[in-house]
Amino acid sequence: MRAIVITAQGGPEVLEYVERPDPEPGDGEIVVDVAASGVNFIDIYHRSGAYPLNLPSPIGSEGAGVVSAVGPDVSDVSVGDTVAWASVLGSYAEKAVVPADRVVPVPAGVPAEVAAAVMLQGMTAHYLTHSTYEVKPGDSVLVHAGAGGMGQLLIQLAKLRGATVHTTVSSEEKEKVARAAGADEVLRYDDFVDVLRNQVDVVYDGVGAATFDGGLAALRPRGLMALYGAASGPVPPVDPQRLNKEGSLFLTRPTLVNYIAEREELLWRASDLFGWIADGLLKINISQRYPLAEAGRAHEDLAARRTTGKLLLIP
Ligand SMILES: NC(=O)c1ccc[n+]([C@@H]2O[C@H](COP(=O)([O-])OP(=O)(O)OC[C@H]3O[C@@H](n4cnc5c(N)ncnc54)[C@H](OP(=O)(O)O)[C@@H]3O)[C@@H](O)[C@H]2O)c1
Repeated sequence: MRAIVITAQGGPEVLEYVERPDPEPGDGEIVVDVAASGVNFIDIYHRSGAYPLNLPSPIGSEGAGVVSAVGPDVSDVSVGDTVAWASVLGSYAEKAVVPADRVVPVPAGVPAEVAAAVMLQGMTAHYLTHSTYEVKPGDSVLVHAGAGGMGQLLIQLAKLRGATVHTTVSSEEKEKVARAAGADEVLRYDDFVDVLRNQVDVVYDGVGAATFDGGLAALRPRGLMALYGAASGPVPPVDPQRLNKEGSLFLTRPTLVNYIAEREELLWRASDLFGWIADGLLKINISQRYPLAEAGRAHEDLAARRTTGKLLLIP
């Protein structure tokens, strides 16, 4: 089988497209013929060295496909099932080895590509709007980078929960995408603070360094900042006294693995998402598909903010 591996961390050129023996499932594992792998910022962090990895390493954190083999001690997954997963390394491959207790069944009404596109960002948008902060009808929500993969999902889930959604984007083209996702107000990075000062209940910030200060200023007293990423670079250390001065604010830096650690929670989030997709309440915007061999080009496009929506690698 073909797969992407890295033997050193660095630029997109360290992503090597190689031939490997077909994998065998170990205890509690399954092998999946991958239909599509999702491209995510965490893959860029793994590749670049921003996050540690034991080298050499497979790469890619999300995918979906059909089970081709099951190992010993696997009872509830069978050959031929369509399954999907997130936060399991090695998804940039024709065949992925995945622990059986980390996959979710994909219902008949959801294509495998859509399942691959929604697992990581969709479950993140789910925990951010349902658990980190439970968005309520009438809440005022600010979502940064509203045309992005995360942004379009957060806008839709916050609207489903009855909020008014403000968002930021960098261009007119991206403004159209954010409006199509349902945003009530679309702003630019240089004007959102003036428009929203002291007004919003929760800020969802995956942009980081460039937007963090403005986001704190946009929060009402006792509002919550969910800083969930760093597309523009990491936020420097924060003095807790700032949260006092700016109105008894809450600050959290959440990550998906802590919100899907229990199997029950993983199944809850994934089945909510699949249900909304099947009912037409959640639209998954797959904007670009790349051949698996061109993973480096996908990384470059995502990091250079040339994309909207979801990027997939097709083996
Ligand atoms: N904590 C978690 O559990 C978790 C899980 C999934 C993703 N994330 C985070 O969510 C964030 C978004 O991920 P995504 O995959 O959906 O990406 P994305 O939003 O599709 O792409 C990033 C977007 O950020 C905006 N941006 C603003 N300044 C930027 C800069 N200097 N460089 C690059 N982009 C910039 C761009 O939109 P504009 O051009 O409109 O500004 C760009 O398109 C990432 O930080 C990722 O790490 C976190």
